[in-house]
Amino acid sequence: MKKKKVGIVGVGNVGSTLAFTLVMKNLCDCILLKDIRDNFTQAMALDISQAASCINSKTIVKAISNDEDFCDCDIIVITAGIPRKPNMSRDDLLFTNAKIMTSIVKNVIKYNENAIIIIVSNPLDAMVYWALKASKWKRNKILGMAGVLDTSRLCHFIKEKVGPKNIKTLVLGGHGDEMIPLINSTTVDDKPLKDFLNDKEISEIVEKTKNGGIEIVKLLQTGSAYYAPANSTALMVEAILKDKKEIFPCAMKLDGEYGHKDVVIGVPVVLGKNGAETIIEKELNDIEKSEFSKSVSSVKTLIEKLEESSK
Ligand code: 2OP
Repeated sequence: MKKKKVGIVGVGNVGSTLAFTLVMKNLCDCILLKDIRDNFTQAMALDISQAASCINSKTIVKAISNDEDFCDCDIIVITAGIPRKPNMSRDDLLFTNAKIMTSIVKNVIKYNENAIIIIVSNPLDAMVYWALKASKWKRNKILGMAGVLDTSRLCHFIKEKVGPKNIKTLVLGGHGDEMIPLINSTTVDDKPLKDFLNDKEISEIVEKTKNGGIEIVKLLQTGSAYYAPANSTALMVEAILKDKKEIFPCAMKLDGEYGHKDVVIGVPVVLGKNGAETIIEKELNDIEKSEFSKSVSSVKTLIEKLEESSK
């Protein structure tokens, strides 16, 4: 059987925590790490490999410095880019991270034509769009991680109120202020969320979810969240590697689904060995539809700025 290989570009907090998480899950045979900081990347590869030995994980972790040796991956996760500072929105990273994204994507696709690429860099939806454009790959092969993270945050804030119950919920839309927590279809132990919380409590939870990332950025002062982003990415990697055909909210290029096209945005997607295999079109109510359109417009504004600057 072909050995399973995952490449991670950008070995900061999210990249290294992702490598560690994948090793602990014993999911793949090899993880390749690539970052502009060679010694740091080697240190991470050694430390995580030694952690793998502790639990007899089969996964080998290697630091790679040449583009040619970063090859034949089944999945590549790109976390590279500058993170937010406390006074910045994700959108403030647009031009810097788009430049980094173009150069990484053009390099990695030369040696990884069969890979599925998962983007984690911000502003997430625009970065997925830009990566697709740089690669000219089909849309199923490049997707973004955000909805899983935003949904975990929503779940966390609901749990804070209702206790450890079985919560089913979903956050769609862009990974920004206009994300859309689907409150109407959220259930707690299979009953509507509205049976447990009043409108004020629910709107506080929605706000907290939208600010879930920046709250951590402000507390940390030196970077952004990494445990939840890395774990959310690991779930997507697992679904693709194991061809699970499970549904996750992912940033995906639309081609008419939800009434929009030529934009990347968070929607429910079936993940399997071909990456994003099917987009699930959920029934949205009128308010959710209009929030979805607003979120699409925000992402489109960023894409237009990038297109304009690259002319
Ligand atoms: C977050 O929401 C960094 O966008 C990432 O934490």
